[in-house]
Amino acid sequence: MQRKIFLNIVIVLVLGVLISGVLSARIVKSSLMDSIEKNLTAEAGLIRELVGENLISNSSSIDVYINKIRQTTNSRITIVDVLGSVIVDTDKEYSKMDNHSNRPEIMSALKGEAGMSIRYSNTLRIDFMYVAQPIIKNDIIIGAVRLSKPLYEIETLLKGLYMNVLIAVLIGAAVSVLLGYKVSLSITNPVKEITYTASRIAKGQFDRRINFIGKDEIGVLIDSINAMASKLNDTITSLRDKNTNLEAVMSSVVNGIIAIDSAERVLFINPVAQKLLNISDTEVVGKHLLQVIRNNSIDNYLKTIFKNKEFFNTEIAIYGSEEKILKLYANPIKHADGKDIEGIIITIQDITELRKLEGVRTEFVANVSHELKTPLTSIKGFAETLKSGGIDDKQDAVRFLDIIEAEADRLYRLINDILSLSELEQKKTKTKTVKESIKVEKAIKEIVSILEGQRDKKNIELSFDIQEGLHNITGEADKFKQMLINLVDNAIKYTPQDGKVRIEAFNLEDDTRGESIVIKVIDNGIGIPIQHIPRLFERFYRVDKARSRTVGGTGLGLAIVKHIVILFNGEIEVKSEVGKGTEFRIILPV
Ligand SMILES: Nc1ncnc2c1ncn2[C@@H]1O[C@H](COP(=O)(O)OP(=O)(O)OP(=O)(O)O)[C@@H](O)[C@H]1O
Ligand SMILES: [Mg+2]
Repeated sequence: MQRKIFLNIVIVLVLGVLISGVLSARIVKSSLMDSIEKNLTAEAGLIRELVGENLISNSSSIDVYINKIRQTTNSRITIVDVLGSVIVDTDKEYSKMDNHSNRPEIMSALKGEAGMSIRYSNTLRIDFMYVAQPIIKNDIIIGAVRLSKPLYEIETLLKGLYMNVLIAVLIGAAVSVLLGYKVSLSITNPVKEITYTASRIAKGQFDRRINFIGKDEIGVLIDSINAMASKLNDTITSLRDKNTNLEAVMSSVVNGIIAIDSAERVLFINPVAQKLLNISDTEVVGKHLLQVIRNNSIDNYLKTIFKNKEFFNTEIAIYGSEEKILKLYANPIKHADGKDIEGIIITIQDITELRKLEGVRTEFVANVSHELKTPLTSIKGFAETLKSGGIDDKQDAVRFLDIIEAEADRLYRLINDILSLSELEQKKTKTKTVKESIKVEKAIKEIVSILEGQRDKKNIELSFDIQEGLHNITGEADKFKQMLINLVDNAIKYTPQDGKVRIEAFNLEDDTRGESIVIKVIDNGIGIPIQHIPRLFERFYRVDKARSRTVGGTGLGLAIVKHIVILFNGEIEVKSEVGKGTEFRIILPV
């Protein structure tokens, strides 16, 4: 653009100088010619008056006279008669000159008017001006006087003039180059600045401004662009702030949120929704929902809502690395007029845990009822038998009463276990628990003596190995003892006659855990098949239900153990081999 402006200015200026030069040369030339013509005409008139009348009759004396005039006028003088024959000529031998009646100036003069003509002389190689006047005697044209002059002066004058015009053009060109450069710069510099800044603004640098001050149209343009950029900056900043706030709110919401338009394209999705729906793609906005989540239940759900314009909630299952149950709540995104539905906002709640807990509770109730029913049925049965005559046989009666007592014991234990489980579960939610120092060695010895009866019944060798200087731990001693009793009780129960059960306790220094103690309960009993180990600590879980029942197990012992270990912030591990034995290992922080 700068080149264009520059070239235009140069062309206009040079053309202007050139045209004005040529025009003034033309004016000068014509005015010069005019004055020469006037002079010649006047002189010719003078000569006519002086010599005209005598001319034709006495040409020889005229000759001398005319030559004298020639010296003062400095013009060639020619006199012709009415037929055009030359009578006198100051510069040539007139007798040798041809008839002049065909010369334009002579022709006009012989008609009675002043004539003028300019002709090029081949011999002198120059333009001549010829001016002729008629010679009149008694109102009759008797001849003509002609004056001529070479146009040397005009030629040299014009040459000088053209020279000056050339110089003027050169100066003009030089000035116009400089001026054009300056003017074009003054126009293009702000334009360049405007273009540059506008492109920066378009790229998002809204704080850019054009640093140019001007009062012309470009100045006004710059002011408006700057004002526009400020406005844009304000608007974008406030939009960005709003967006950031909204994003902060959306990402701190615990539920997943997805917004879709009426064509099921994603308008918005928060990180929770991405996680719940296992979406790894980061660029989901603008894509069709099915492209993002390949789940037909969600698609069908949304299609039904769009079709019936009725918003309802639904539950869907997502199968991935782990199965999830999600509850979807749909709400309309309404058009400004409040009627048309432009899209849907879906709130997603993960209810997997809730459903699982519900399942566990139902199962628990069923299990408890079943476990309670079994001994009650047995008690009721034997009581009826006693009533309907069984009491008469004393030996039978005692046997039946023993069974009733055993079943009642079992009921009592069962209810006790359920109570301690629910107590432990409540404790878990309470932050405050009783804290006392537990002497582990003493506790182990007490347990061994409590279980002496059971041990002796099966002739089991029950031993313990406690490291000297074993750390004390803090917590509820009763719970600690209950935990150990349950483990040792199991070890004795699930170990055949004459087996061995051993308790080990030692300190453990660990980088990750810090100071802790380890308690192992090892037996050489029947062992646990590996597939049962993950479920061992569930309530009412028994490896072999029939067998457990014969030894009086309800499957709550290990569930209680697990809860107590958690209460002590500890860990529990199981190692077992079928037919060889089992090892339970508890790590408790000091
Ligand atoms: N030391 C062990 N050796 C082999 N199997 C074991 C051992 N300890 C536990 N089990 C298995 O784990 C199951 C769950 O044990 P848990 O102590 O919870 O229940 P239980 O002993 O059957 O009944 P409860 O302890 O409530 O009287 C047992 O039924 C048994 O099959
Ligand atoms: Mg048990």
